[in-house]
Amino acid sequence: MGLHIGSIAPDFQVDTSTGPIKFHEWIGSTWAILFSHPKDFTPVCTTELGRAANLKAEFDKRNVKMIAVSVDGVEDHKKWIGDIEETQNAKMNFPIIGDKERKVAGLYDMIHAEANDTLTVRSVFIIDPNKKIRAMITYPASTGRNFSEILRVIDSLQLTDNFKVATPADWKDGDDCVIVPALQDPEELKKRFPKGFKVVKPYLRMTPQPNK
Ligand code: BEZ
Repeated sequence: MGLHIGSIAPDFQVDTSTGPIKFHEWIGSTWAILFSHPKDFTPVCTTELGRAANLKAEFDKRNVKMIAVSVDGVEDHKKWIGDIEETQNAKMNFPIIGDKERKVAGLYDMIHAEANDTLTVRSVFIIDPNKKIRAMITYPASTGRNFSEILRVIDSLQLTDNFKVATPADWKDGDDCVIVPALQDPEELKKRFPKGFKVVKPYLRMTPQPNK
C-alpha cells in the first residue's frame, strides 16, 4: 500500500553525510522534513540544498529537523557538499542520506518510473513528532522547490495542531485563519478565540491568527 497523509513514516537505518542514523530515533520528539534529490552534482539540487541550509534557523524556530536523500553514496555527498558551500554561500548544516541501494527511495516511493526509472523525483515529506506523515509535496526533477512554501505548510499544520484553525487560500503568516468546522461549542469558541471571529457563513468563520 502506498504512503498517504496520516501514514506512519517508514523507519530505516542508513549512513548519511554526518554519520549513521536510525530515522525515527533521529527525529526524536521534533518535526522533520525528508526531501529527495534526483542526483548529486546536479544544478537545481545544488541550489536547493544551499537554500535549505540558509533557512535552517527558520526550520529550527519551528522545531523541524531537515534531512535530504540522494541516490548516491556518502563519499559523493561529501564532495558535493564542498561545491554547495562554494557556490551557494551556505554552510551545510543537516545530513544527506546515502541511498545508493535506493532503500529510502523505495520505501517512500520517490522513483516515478514514468518520469525516470533511476532518479528520484523531488519529494518532500513533512513528518510530525508522532512520526506521522502530515504533508507530501512532489515536484519534477526540473523544478526547484520553494522552501518558503514548505515553511508556510509547516506553519499551517502547527497552527491546526495548536489552535484548531485551518489556513485559507494563499494564506501567509499574520493573515486571518479559518476556524475548523468541527469546533461548534459556543463556550469553547469564546475561550479559544478571545480576539473574536466573523461568521461569513455558518461553515466559514474567520479569526485573527491566534498566535500573533
Ligand atoms: C538538477 O538538479 O539540476 C536536475 C536533476 C535531474 C534532472 C534535471 C535537473
